[in-house]
Amino acid sequence: MRSIETLRATFTQFYGAAPTHITRAPGRVNLIGEHTDYNDGFVLPMALDRAVLIAARARADRRVRMLALDFEHARSEFALDAPIEHDSANKWSNYIRGVAWALLARGFILPGLDLAIQGDVPRGSGLSSSAALEVCAATTFAEIGNLEISKVEIAKLCQRAESEFVGMKCGIMDQFISALARADHALLIDCRDLSYQNVPLPRGAQIVVCDTLKRRGLVDSEYNTRRAECEQAVRLLAAQLGKPLRALRDVSPEEFARGENALPPTVAKRARHIITENARVLDAVAATRRDALAAFGALMDASHASLRDDYQVSCAELDAMVEIARQQRGCLGARLTGAGFGGCTVNLVEESAVDAFISDVARAYHARTGLSPQIFACRAMAGAGVVE
Ligand code: GLA
Repeated sequence: MRSIETLRATFTQFYGAAPTHITRAPGRVNLIGEHTDYNDGFVLPMALDRAVLIAARARADRRVRMLALDFEHARSEFALDAPIEHDSANKWSNYIRGVAWALLARGFILPGLDLAIQGDVPRGSGLSSSAALEVCAATTFAEIGNLEISKVEIAKLCQRAESEFVGMKCGIMDQFISALARADHALLIDCRDLSYQNVPLPRGAQIVVCDTLKRRGLVDSEYNTRRAECEQAVRLLAAQLGKPLRALRDVSPEEFARGENALPPTVAKRARHIITENARVLDAVAATRRDALAAFGALMDASHASLRDDYQVSCAELDAMVEIARQQRGCLGARLTGAGFGGCTVNLVEESAVDAFISDVARAYHARTGLSPQIFACRAMAGAGVVE
């Protein structure tokens, strides 16, 4: 709450009038289902109690002015009536520019706005600070502009902003969970038809996030390579199996076993990860319904192994963090979360063991790498909305 007061006061001082709205959109951690979203598959993320906040007020003209508290009060502004350009000196502003661009392209009439932005989602650590910023900006435009737009549509337009305006060809998971999360639940999303189900978190354990502090490098180019390899697998498997396939989602494990030989070895590994990961997501949801913590944890472990060996998006720091976590009492499962190549792991830890887990993992990881990681237990929060 202190941050809201700072945000409101800074806004008022800078723009000379108090904000009329404060909106919030959370970052996320994905429990299981990695790299499956752009293969029309299943994911199971939850929203974090870390979020982006925007204070806002309508303007009489058609300009959008932005002030970023986390970037030394950097400013950027653009007009809604001219083609929206990138600001290479203030890259943070491109997420908001992209959202305005996507909303305008979809035919919405937007109000001019004064905005002040602040957040506590760690940046560059795979917890979707950019999706949180996009969804928060879209929610602000929707609220102040009285736009008739559903949360699903907000998620889709924000994904479009990120892939077409910002230029990171992401899937739908991050924007979707930031817009639609329900408190105390994870969200099972079917990324083909965007249907979803709230899934209660497993009882008796907590979700703990460990930030390796290794900032994600390589991620854009490797991400696009993985996407292309998955598309290649679809084409080759369709020919081999003699049936039309839209995505790896359409390939059962049995069909994969029959068609796998037609794929170059690397492409086969990528496809194997996606096909087995989709099955793990559905098994994990079934496990939460039975409160089968050990089964859920084992699926997380298997997901990490598959991301490391078949999809090859892990790195030394992520592997070290997972290995250390698995040696702790009360740790039921651990895996990298998000795109990979750095960032965070997600861990399922028995409630009574969480405090010891946090301090012991931090100590052991520091001893091994010289880095002091950020480790925190998470509550599942609701998705984007107006705070006041
Ligand atoms: C990034 C993307 C998501 C998803 C994950 C990997 O977070 O933004 O769409 O593909 O990587 O699961």
